[in-house]
Amino acid sequence: MCGIVGYIGKRDATPVLVEGLHRLEYRGYDSAGLAVIARGRLQLTKTAGRVQDLRDKLGDKPGKATVGIGHTRWATHGEPNETNAHPHTDAGHRIAVVHNGIIENAEALRAQLTGEGVRFATETDTECLAHLVARELEASDEATLEEAVVATLRRVEGAYGLAFLDTKNPDQLVVARNGSPLVLGLGESEMFVASDVAALVRYTRQVIYLDDGEVATIKATDYHTTTLAGGAAGNSVKTPTVVDADADDYELGGFSDYMRKEIYEQPDAIRRAVMGRLDERFATAKLGGVNLDARELRNIKRVKFLGCGSAYYAGQMGAALVEELARIPADAEPASEFRYRSPVVDPDTLYVAVSQSGETSDTLMAVQELKRKGGQVMGAVNVVGSAIGRECGHGIFLHAGPEVAVASTKALTNMVVNFALLSLLLGRVRDLSAAHGTRVVNGLRNLPSQVAGILNAEAEIAAIAHRYAEAEHMFFIGRVRGWPVAREGAQKLKEISYVHAEAYQAGELKHGPLALIQHEMPSVVVIPADDLIAKNISTVEQIKARGGPVIAVTSVEIPDGLADATIRVPRAEPELEPILFNIPLQLFAYHAAAKLGRDIDKPRNLAKSVTVE
Ligand code: F6R
Repeated sequence: MCGIVGYIGKRDATPVLVEGLHRLEYRGYDSAGLAVIARGRLQLTKTAGRVQDLRDKLGDKPGKATVGIGHTRWATHGEPNETNAHPHTDAGHRIAVVHNGIIENAEALRAQLTGEGVRFATETDTECLAHLVARELEASDEATLEEAVVATLRRVEGAYGLAFLDTKNPDQLVVARNGSPLVLGLGESEMFVASDVAALVRYTRQVIYLDDGEVATIKATDYHTTTLAGGAAGNSVKTPTVVDADADDYELGGFSDYMRKEIYEQPDAIRRAVMGRLDERFATAKLGGVNLDARELRNIKRVKFLGCGSAYYAGQMGAALVEELARIPADAEPASEFRYRSPVVDPDTLYVAVSQSGETSDTLMAVQELKRKGGQVMGAVNVVGSAIGRECGHGIFLHAGPEVAVASTKALTNMVVNFALLSLLLGRVRDLSAAHGTRVVNGLRNLPSQVAGILNAEAEIAAIAHRYAEAEHMFFIGRVRGWPVAREGAQKLKEISYVHAEAYQAGELKHGPLALIQHEMPSVVVIPADDLIAKNISTVEQIKARGGPVIAVTSVEIPDGLADATIRVPRAEPELEPILFNIPLQLFAYHAAAKLGRDIDKPRNLAKSVTVE
């Protein structure tokens, strides 16, 4: 949610910043801008459009600057126009700042500054930071940029990832983090800073993840960090982490967009998730990141998954797996609800915080709330070094590889695969038989080729999606194992195609929503190979009897002509079937959106990592 990037070194800073912004564009794409220092002056370029528009505006003339900051925006305060695009400056154009997050006391700070005669140029919360830092520097010739930033941030409430540029100190950048991610990239006589490693990996894989409350001063050849609490007394240099990704992981590699690329990466993503984690001999799973011994695993009385959006639906699928394989009561709840509802935290419950990015503010806050109340929480995250992963301290790494498209596909799949591993582990220290465990182990091993088989049917799924893409509304119907699948299918369709899609439990249809069924309202009905096939077939008949078109997604034989269109899913181990059912629904949403001409990787109003409330 907003991408920030900074560079200081020997290169021409502008192309480095533009390239970084291009990599970060999935975090927000309302507007973009950058500031560099050339011949002692700030040079600012902004656009209300995409990073490509910024690139066009800049042209390809070599620049004169070797230091600068850039930003791609997901608007919170102020409409997404050129004026409100970052970077923002003080009135004297000495300081430029880019910001990811929300300054909660911006109104009060703005009122105070206005009262002191400061004139604001934008509607953003960020601008007051440029004024405040400039005023700190004006007040004392001795003050360093870092001291001015620290003094300013002590007055600020809210979440931020920030980078400051000062024309009077062109040999440095000062950056700060509180609730929004920031990572430093260490190069040879050059340094980078960005909201995530995607912007850095083509230059360096040596990175430093900043912690909340940390401020760093970055020069071309060195850096140090300090804390808001400790001030200059806390200066330190941190041990770098080597990033396990390279620039190719962020390339399209022949695909026209990231969503389809990531859909096609799922067989490999699943292979990575299970690699070295299946124990054939004892028919169980090995999860090195879970710091719980057999006794502690056995003492868990309940499992609760917390996540937002698709991560919550993945948690619902995980809860079903835990109940079925381990016979422990389990459920999932949106982290955004949990954090606000004063939950009763039970010490015998294992809480699992689920997040692709590891940054989602609501999920992070839920984790912090849990820890405050003594809950045992582990992470299930995809991004190494992310805030949620670090806050949890232990858990399961998803191994999906970098996910760029806003609509989650391979990360969601790997969440559920990992929950199957966790359920197997929990089940095998309880009542799950070795024979059943072996079936699940084999079922997990078979998933990659089964997913590849579904991908081979893309053309047929696309034809069905095209047939129904013009519908204004659609139902996604499922029950029990099919219910979270229906929810996730509806979520995918609405976020990238903007078709109104509503998920309903099959049994609930007759208690109200059936009134909506008519010829213009297609229903996607999920029919797995479980004990409820007859019930699901009867649901299809109820919809058909009222003139509603039905698209059946099924791993069983259903009567000829029952549905208007049928998408076939291979049979898997029954508990694992939801993992396979998600795949055709991703393709269905993708092709409906493509038919409608949507910008698939950058759906309107959305951004990949939601680091604000
Ligand atoms: C949907 C989607 C979102 C995310 C949600 C949580 O395709 O991507 O609903 O699942 O914003 O994000 P993470 O998993 O990063 O916490």
